[in-house]
Amino acid sequence: MLCLNVVRLHSIFCVEMEEERSKPEFAVVHNDRKFSNMIQLLHLRNLFSKALVKMPRDYVVKMIFDRRHFTYAMYREDGTIVGGLCFRPFTNRGFAEVVFLAIAHGDQVRGKGTRLMNHFKEYCKHELGINYLLTYADNFATGYFKKQGFTADITLPATQWKGYIKDYDGGTMMGCRLYQHIDYRDMSGSIREVIKEMCHNLAKNAGEGVIVYPGLSDFPYDINHIPGLEHVNHREDGWSTKTGTFYGQVSSLLAAVMKESFSLPFREPVSDSHVPGYSTVIRNPMDLSTMRMKNDERWYVTRDQLRADVKLMIDNCVLFNGPRHEVTRLGNETVNFLMPRIDKLVEYAIDDSDIRNKKLRV
Ligand code: COA
Repeated sequence: MLCLNVVRLHSIFCVEMEEERSKPEFAVVHNDRKFSNMIQLLHLRNLFSKALVKMPRDYVVKMIFDRRHFTYAMYREDGTIVGGLCFRPFTNRGFAEVVFLAIAHGDQVRGKGTRLMNHFKEYCKHELGINYLLTYADNFATGYFKKQGFTADITLPATQWKGYIKDYDGGTMMGCRLYQHIDYRDMSGSIREVIKEMCHNLAKNAGEGVIVYPGLSDFPYDINHIPGLEHVNHREDGWSTKTGTFYGQVSSLLAAVMKESFSLPFREPVSDSHVPGYSTVIRNPMDLSTMRMKNDERWYVTRDQLRADVKLMIDNCVLFNGPRHEVTRLGNETVNFLMPRIDKLVEYAIDDSDIRNKKLRV
């Protein structure tokens, strides 16, 4: 039994896979000057110093005792440490820097590094509201990070992280986006769900025939790279959900509706100079350009938010013009175009900047 005065995560994060017999505990250890945590950090220092042979011992000490840093530690049932991951959360920027990580010598290459990272990912998503990890990976460790879904292609906007994380010579900057709909502690279950959804959508949209794609040689951690996924939900009218992120889907949908002739009266805000008295009747105006601007600012993260603005747009139209007016008829056509397509947007494809809308802790 561990007597740590640390954040206990066992109940939340120890949903172990059936085949695993031992049940490690996970804890976040921090330099809060409490004796028990100091002892744990010293154990972690020993583990890191042994595993990271090229890293100077005093650098390791400096990093793990730095009060801006935390170490996500994995324990055996008997309370000894299996491994640790030192990180610095940038919660208001939506990412965490993985400073370094290590698994005890005798336990390496047995899946424990993967397990530690998977639990850490879930911790970041649920406890910190973080959806992106960044690291400067040592060249000999890039293989491990690749296996954990990190790539050198950083999709987090540079303005969000540049200048915030430490630069290293001889390292490769790698990033990993964390998906809300994937349970990293149960990857096989998550993959099953994705495949089930793909098959369902393919069957629904097969049309003239089903296209068979070659199998996957490696699991693409960015599910948008699964061959054939771009054709799922494809529509003849040029709109599709292939853009992946919710922002991308909404942007493509708004572009499509703006091309339709019936949307003409709703493309731009109504000004009092063109329609005198409009602003005295309509207190809360809405139009497609405003929706596009809100989307560019990543305001929309759910289908309901979009539906609410479409409804506001048509309610304003009916209120100002009356239900039988020609503009209202065009408004109804615009709504009939948008609503069924909004129902089909893939809400879980969250863009990284959506995390700005969340209240972040720590
Ligand atoms: N280079 C390339 N691939 C690696 C690797 C490395 N250094 N270490 C692990 N892998 C691969 C494994 O072969 C495995 O591949 P597979 O899924 O195809 O079998 C996969 O990554 C996961 O391996 P896993 O067993 O979960 O890793 P681990 O428990 O050994 O933990 C480290 C990985 C890197 C944390 C661990 O080996 C370690 O502590 N190394 C020393 C310290 C270090 O290098 N830290 C990283 C830099 S900060």
